[in-house]
Amino acid sequence: MKSILLAIALAWGSLTAGAQSHTFEINLAQPGAEIQPTMYGIFFEDINYAADGGLYAELIQNRSFEYPNHLAAWDVSGCVTLLDDGPFPRNPHYLRLAPTGHGAKATMIENHGFFGIGVKGGEEYRFSLWARCPEGQSADLRVDLTDPATMDEDQRFATANLHVSGTEWQKYTVLLRSPKTLAKASLRLWADPTATTDVEHLSLFPVDTYRGVEGGLRRDLAEALEQMHPGVFRFPGGCIVEGADLATRYQWKNTLGPVENRPLNENRWHYTFQYRYFPNYFQSYGLGFYEFFCLSEQIGAEPLPVLSVGLACQYQNDIRDEARVHASLDDLDPYIQDCIDLIDFANADPTTNPWAKIRAEMGHPAPFGLKFLAIGNEQWDYPDNPAFTARLERFIGAIRKVHPEIKLIGSTGPDSEGEKFDDLQQKMINLRCDLYDEHYYRNEAWFLDSINRHRYDAYPRLVCSGCSKGSSCSECSKGSKRSKVEAPRVFAGEYACHGDGKKFNHFNAALMEAQFMTGFERNADLVHMATYAPLFAHTEGWQWRPDAIWYDNLTSFRTCSYYVQQMFATHRGHRVLPLTMCGRPVCGDSDQHGLSATASLDYDGSIIIKVVNVSDAPQPVTVHLLKGKGKKGKGSPKAEGFTGIDVLTLHSDDPDADNTLEAPTKIIPQPSHLSVSGTEFPVTVPAKSVVIYTVK
Ligand code: AHR
Repeated sequence: MKSILLAIALAWGSLTAGAQSHTFEINLAQPGAEIQPTMYGIFFEDINYAADGGLYAELIQNRSFEYPNHLAAWDVSGCVTLLDDGPFPRNPHYLRLAPTGHGAKATMIENHGFFGIGVKGGEEYRFSLWARCPEGQSADLRVDLTDPATMDEDQRFATANLHVSGTEWQKYTVLLRSPKTLAKASLRLWADPTATTDVEHLSLFPVDTYRGVEGGLRRDLAEALEQMHPGVFRFPGGCIVEGADLATRYQWKNTLGPVENRPLNENRWHYTFQYRYFPNYFQSYGLGFYEFFCLSEQIGAEPLPVLSVGLACQYQNDIRDEARVHASLDDLDPYIQDCIDLIDFANADPTTNPWAKIRAEMGHPAPFGLKFLAIGNEQWDYPDNPAFTARLERFIGAIRKVHPEIKLIGSTGPDSEGEKFDDLQQKMINLRCDLYDEHYYRNEAWFLDSINRHRYDAYPRLVCSGCSKGSSCSECSKGSKRSKVEAPRVFAGEYACHGDGKKFNHFNAALMEAQFMTGFERNADLVHMATYAPLFAHTEGWQWRPDAIWYDNLTSFRTCSYYVQQMFATHRGHRVLPLTMCGRPVCGDSDQHGLSATASLDYDGSIIIKVVNVSDAPQPVTVHLLKGKGKKGKGSPKAEGFTGIDVLTLHSDDPDADNTLEAPTKIIPQPSHLSVSGTEFPVTVPAKSVVIYTVK
C-alpha cells in the first residue's frame, strides 16, 4: 500500500511540477451583482415515470380502472365485471366482484404495480379501497402481497382482511407489514365467495413517505430534492404542459381536490418515441399542483408553475392546422383565466376567493407566496404567423392588469441559438417579459465553444425604451431622450450536456455542465434561474436521458450531474466577487488551461470559489485575496484572518463513469480541509474536476 501511495505521489508530483502555475486574483473590495436565491433550481416533468411510478409513492397502477384499457396492470380471475356508474364522477369506472357459484373457482383481482410493486422488509403499507355490497349483505375480502416469481410453496407474504358492509360506498383501510424486501411483488384482492362486492380506487402506499404525509411522496426521492437545496422549483414540465393536443395539455384545475376524483390524463411520453414506447404511461394527477406547491415550500424553493399559452405541442402539430388544433386568439380567455385563477389559488385570501378557498380546504390556508409564472414551454413563431408571441402578448396584457406583482416568464423556444432563437429573444424583450426561458441539450463541443462559454457576457442588460434594442439603437447612442429599461433576465430552464455518442449520464457531461454554470454565476446580474433537466428517471421506464436522479422500485441514486447541481446550490454565495487571471475573467479560454472559475461572497462573510478544470492535467493555482484599491464595498470582508479552507471536490478517473443503483456513491463530492492562513493560498485543481473552496 505504501509503495502504491508513493508511486501516486511521485506521479502527481511530476505531473504538477512541470505545469505552469496560475494566479487567481479575487477583489474583495468590489462585490458585484447579487446572486439570486433562485439561481440553482430544479425542473420537474412527468417524463421517465417521474410522477406515477416515481416521486408519487402510490404503488397500484391504474387504481381507478380509468386507463383506456380499463384492466391495464390488472389480472382478473372468476366473476369480474367493469361498470361505470361509480361514486367519483370524473373516474366513473369500478369493478364488480361476484361469487363464481363454484367452490373451487375464486374471484380475485391482481395488480402488478409499476414494473412490479416494490416493498421493503419490516415496513408498513397502507392499503385502501372504496367498496360497497350492492346486494345489501356484508363481505369479507382478503388482500395479499405476493411474490409471483417465488419458488417457495406459498406466494403470499403479507395478508390482511377487510370487512365491507352496506350498500353505500365507503373507504376501507388496512395496514400490511412486509416481512421481506421485494422489487416486484403484486397485490391480490380476493372476493367473498358468498357476496357481491363493488370496488373502486384501490391504493397502496408506504406508510414511510416524505415527511410522513399519508398518500405522499417517495421518501428517498423527495429527500434527494430537498438535499439539492434548490432555489426554484419549476413544474409541471416541459412538453407535458402543452399536450399533443389541447385536450390533453396539463390542466392544473383537474389536479385539485380528493385524489379519487382527479381525472386521468394521458401522458405524451407514452408515445413520443416509438423506439421507447410505454403504452401504460398515464397521469393520475395524484401528484398535482397543490402537492407541487407544498413540495416547493418543504424543500425551500420558489414555486414556478408553467401554463399553456393555448398552443398544443408545435413539434407534433402543424401550424397550418391552427384553427383545428390550437386555441385561436379569440379563444384564449379560458387559458388566460387559468393563469389568473392559479395566482389566486396560490396567493389569495381564502375567505374571499374561491380558488384560495380550495387551497385552504386542501390543508393550506396560508398563501404559497407565488412570485413567478411561465407561459408556454417550447413555443415559437413562424415567418408568416406570430403563433406564440401574438398569444403571449394577450396573456401578458391581461395578467399584468390584475397581478402586476407576478414576474412573467416567456420563452426563446426549443433552440439554443439561430434564427428562431434570435427572433424570440428580441420579441421577449419587446414584450417586456421579466425573464425568458432558454433550453439547451447540447454536446460537449457546444459547451466548450467560446461563444457558449461567453454566452451571457454578451446579452443585453438594458434596452432602449423606445425600440427595445440594445446598443444598436441609434437614437440611444445619439443620446436622445429615450431612456433605457431593463432587458428580461435569463431563466436557463432546461439544460444538460448530451455527450456525442454518449447520451447517458457520465462524469464528463457533468463536468461540461459545471464549467458552463460558472458562466451563469459570473453573469448573475442577468441569469436569475437555471434548472438542469430532466430530473427523474425510472430505470425500467425512461424515455429520455441523461437525468439527475435514477431509481428502481426500491432504491435510487444521484448522478454526477445531480452532485454538480447540489454543489453549486449549496455554495451559491450572495454577491459575485470579481475573479481574474492575468486581468481577465476565468472562462476556459484557450490560454486558460481548461479552467473556469467564479467567486462569491456569502452572507456570513465567507468567500466561495468554484473552479472547474476540464483539462487532462492538474492545474496549480495561487489564489490571491485582494482588498482592492477602490472604496470598500459595504460588508466587504477583510483579506486578513482566514485560517482554513474547506474544499469539496468532484472527480472521476473515468470520464465515462457515473453512479449506478449498485454503486450509488462511487463518484460523490469529497470534502477536505486546507490548513492555510494569510491572504493567498496555493492549490492544485485536479484534472477533470469540479472544486469548491470555501474560505471562512
Ligand atoms: O426535458 C424533456 C423535454 O425536453 C421537455 O419536455 C421539453 O421542454 C424539452 O424538449
